[in-house]
Amino acid sequence: MAITKADFDYISQLAHSEAAIVLEPGKEYLVETRLGPLAQREGFASLAAFIQQMRLEVRVNGIHHRAIDALTTNETLFFRDFHPFEALRRFILPEVLEQRGGARRLTIWSAACSTGQEPYSLAMLLLEHFPQLAGWTVSILATDLSPTVLQAAREGAYTQFEVNRGLPANYLVKYFTKEGEKWCVKDEVKKLIEFRPMNLIQSWPVLPPLDLVLIRNVMIYFDVETKKTILRKIRNCLLPHGYLFLGTAETTTNLDPAFQPVTHGKAVVYRALPPALSTFLGSS
Ligand SMILES: C[S@@+](CC[C@H](N)C(=O)[O-])C[C@H]1O[C@@H](n2cnc3c(N)ncnc32)[C@H](O)[C@@H]1O
Repeated sequence: MAITKADFDYISQLAHSEAAIVLEPGKEYLVETRLGPLAQREGFASLAAFIQQMRLEVRVNGIHHRAIDALTTNETLFFRDFHPFEALRRFILPEVLEQRGGARRLTIWSAACSTGQEPYSLAMLLLEHFPQLAGWTVSILATDLSPTVLQAAREGAYTQFEVNRGLPANYLVKYFTKEGEKWCVKDEVKKLIEFRPMNLIQSWPVLPPLDLVLIRNVMIYFDVETKKTILRKIRNCLLPHGYLFLGTAETTTNLDPAFQPVTHGKAVVYRALPPALSTFLGSS
């Protein structure tokens, strides 16, 4: 049975308040296809009964979080969009490493990392092309709201279909082992990454000063005010020489004038203006 307007409104308000996910009218099919199977797994006779149970709970708890988890879009792949990784290899990492040569420390944040392909791509790129990082403190912080995808990311065991998407054959051979049907990321790659749960719209933990922030294909689901807040918070953690990476359909334009686009090869990345200039431009 199709979802009622009242149930759809309830779910879209929940998704918005808990995860900033915007579900506009027309997305009823998405709610039905994502929450229907979950309702069944949870033992409810129908999606309506599942939503009714959510309404009955006094406060947001496990059942709501599992619903939000199921509503997230987790599409990702290794070396997604290719050009940002080329820009990292050819221009950005050499420049950042020069800046950080004194401290010998490199810190990268992969925000909304989904099932881990992005942070693993970063780690493999570092191992493959920047052997001078041996002896540095390198850390890739990888976060996501969804416990399900974080668990998969931590395991780092991918199907043939998943490794066929974006992963060069030489990387597969060098950085994975075949275990049964799965391709498993080797420990030398895993040890560069720390996976942690984090909801971008709730209060943030203290983050270390960051050289690079990749927050790709997640803000596309958020409203304008949420995007502005997140960009401002990122600016506060990004080192002066740092770079911000967004998804190809995303931009800082009209959201945060302190972030300026820079083109490297075929990739557009963003740098933050110094604070004095940002204030002048009206960003706080
Ligand atoms: C489409 S995936 C993007 C994955 C990866 N960044 C990429 O570009 O391939 C979006 C991810 O954002 C996560 N997400 C959605 N809302 C979030 C929020 N409020 N806080 C943190 N992560 C969120 C989802 O769980 C999902 O894994």
